[in-house]
Amino acid sequence: MLLDNNINTILIILQQWESSSKTFFSKSKCVKPKVNLDLQKDNPKVVHAFDIEDLGDEAVYCRCWRSKKFPYCDGAHAKHNQETGDNVGPLIIKRKEA
Ligand code: FES
Repeated sequence: MLLDNNINTILIILQQWESSSKTFFSKSKCVKPKVNLDLQKDNPKVVHAFDIEDLGDEAVYCRCWRSKKFPYCDGAHAKHNQETGDNVGPLIIKRKEA
């Protein structure tokens, strides 16, 4: 009798967990975090283009979207990485020495 009650309790808990997990993991209700938190939010797509001839010997571009000088890196990725455990860093383009 005690074993039957325990099994019934476990079954009820599993049924409740299953129904709640379907809601929690449902694609329609799942919200994925955004990369861009506040840059040009009125723009449907943030794009930057540069002529290769205009780049100096080195250009450092932000990939974490936290730079105050976006699209250039200002080192804000370090704080982001420290706060989140992430590991993002800049894209560095260097001109080869001739
Ligand atoms: S500030 Fe974003 S990669 Fe450096």
